[in-house]
Amino acid sequence: MCGIVGYIGNKNGIDVVTRGLERLEYRGYDSAGVAFFGVGQKRLQVIKTVGRLDALKHILAKQKKSGAFGTAVIGHTRWATHGVPSKMNAHPHIGCKKEIALVHNGIIENSDALREALSREGHVFRSSTDTEALVHLIERMISFGALSLEDAVRQALRHVRGTFGIVVISSRWPNRVVAARRGSPLLVGVGKKNEYIIASDASAISEHTKRVIYLDDNELISLSSEGHRIFDIANNTLFKNASLITWSQEESQKEGFPHFMLKEIFAAPDVIENALRGRVLAKEGVVKLGGLESVQKKLEWIKRIVIAACGTSYYAGLIGKYLIEEMAKIPVDVVYGSEFRYAPSTVDRSALVIVISQSGETADTLEAAREAKRRGAKTVGIVNVVGSSIAREVHAGIYNHAGPEIAVASTKAFISQLVTLAMLAVFLGTERKTLSDEKRKEFLKELVALPRKCRFVLKQDQVIKKIAKKFSAAQNFLFLGRKFNWPTALEGALKLKEISYIHAEGYPAGEMKHGPIALIDQHFPTVAIALQDSVYEKIISAIQEVRARKGPIIGLVTAGDSAFQKYTKHIIAIPQTHEALSPVLAVIPLQLFAYHIACFRGADVDKPRNLAKSVTVE
Ligand code: M6R
Repeated sequence: MCGIVGYIGNKNGIDVVTRGLERLEYRGYDSAGVAFFGVGQKRLQVIKTVGRLDALKHILAKQKKSGAFGTAVIGHTRWATHGVPSKMNAHPHIGCKKEIALVHNGIIENSDALREALSREGHVFRSSTDTEALVHLIERMISFGALSLEDAVRQALRHVRGTFGIVVISSRWPNRVVAARRGSPLLVGVGKKNEYIIASDASAISEHTKRVIYLDDNELISLSSEGHRIFDIANNTLFKNASLITWSQEESQKEGFPHFMLKEIFAAPDVIENALRGRVLAKEGVVKLGGLESVQKKLEWIKRIVIAACGTSYYAGLIGKYLIEEMAKIPVDVVYGSEFRYAPSTVDRSALVIVISQSGETADTLEAAREAKRRGAKTVGIVNVVGSSIAREVHAGIYNHAGPEIAVASTKAFISQLVTLAMLAVFLGTERKTLSDEKRKEFLKELVALPRKCRFVLKQDQVIKKIAKKFSAAQNFLFLGRKFNWPTALEGALKLKEISYIHAEGYPAGEMKHGPIALIDQHFPTVAIALQDSVYEKIISAIQEVRARKGPIIGLVTAGDSAFQKYTKHIIAIPQTHEALSPVLAVIPLQLFAYHIACFRGADVDKPRNLAKSVTVE
């Protein structure tokens, strides 16, 4: 995710900010930039580069030689969400008069409307970002008589919908920095003699000071050499004490979690909210997917869909098949990216090929997209990394907005893929008129309730850890599920093998009796996804078969299913939801289970042996 660093004080702010940006590199980024005033300078300087921070540091080193010494500096590492990675789209963004510079994390949901209104007033936009609307809006407030930078920022934020962590400087007030937050983290390090470092993450601050002020939603802070003032959108002054941070550098990056994988599993509620933001109007029963506009006409008459993906993304595709067939009644095949090119295929211009990839760089999936185009099919990408090879290759796409995933084992990206596929299924069902209003509204109501229900699931962490400890010495595992949760079982097994190196197999429960049952004995545990849905009884039959062979059972059940206790005492409960959405909740305990087992076995959870985060070879 993007990173923010800002500085005001007597040190060389350029050094402080670049060092801070380096500390945020672990979050992933595609471009970077800084804006500052040199001592005694009135003009704002803005430097931006695409790619690694080194390029930016190289230019800044030259500036430093010629005497640049920023006292008010803002910097940013960008991980693209709106608009491709480019110098133009990189932050800081500046207004028309080049007097204001702003860095932003989050998403301005009403940026299109703001852009339109501001353009009508003569503002000229240079980038394709949502952020630029905000800098022009602040500029407008100044032109219309805002008395101070704080006032201009505060007034502008009243017109903004969405999330933001922002830091703003202006050449009219060169000794002031204003920051604000809603939804995106922002903290202010308090140094000696009215020196302040603002950052989106404590790791950019902790080497300078341990004293920080945490901004809460809808709070602003104005910083200068005279001190600071905290206030809210209504301009009420607030009083907050600085807290002491006790985390080390690495701990700060993990935000207190021992591993990135755990941090990413716990990000599930935010990830879902980010995927849904601006796309789902639950009350109206509407799903808007702007990225599909260019292929929308074609979607009306496609005869079939083929999903191509690898690994975890492939399992998301299998769930996507059930979702799309259920909601839009279009036949869907799911193919491994690596097989797509080689299997005899009937894909032609009557098909839509959906490729799913977290990284957007998986060679097998990229080749599948290219092959699909050669065969005349339209291609749609469900990709997390904006501007990645697959995102650029496909005709249209939907970004996951899950933020960078650092642990090699995919967790939060899978969740966002499922949510994206659920939105796509409703979108197609609406286009095809296969979904009644009532069914659509009911489904969307459940979709937007998922973050809350995820939080409930995450609260089971200690229960899951206990069960994981009990089974951490097992040599084999079987994961069973049916219908929507058959692929969840596959994903549960994949997670476990990837990070704990335990042999695990996932099966549709009905298939167990056709072979795998031969493996079951008292040393071979089975994780059964046994939710109270349309296949509950069928799963119970499989569980009975396991019990009859003395196989230990871990049950993933619907909260309130007390009857399940007669099969096992190892139970993890998740809330009821729409059956088609249950994989989103069911996969979280399986991710946590794999995580804890791997920890108990002393494995390198974030960097498992032999695996790479993105597989760019065929
Ligand atoms: O970046 P992609 O989604 O295209 O990656 C596909 C697989 O390589 C990936 O999901 C892999 O299976 C992960 N290690 C799963 O944790």
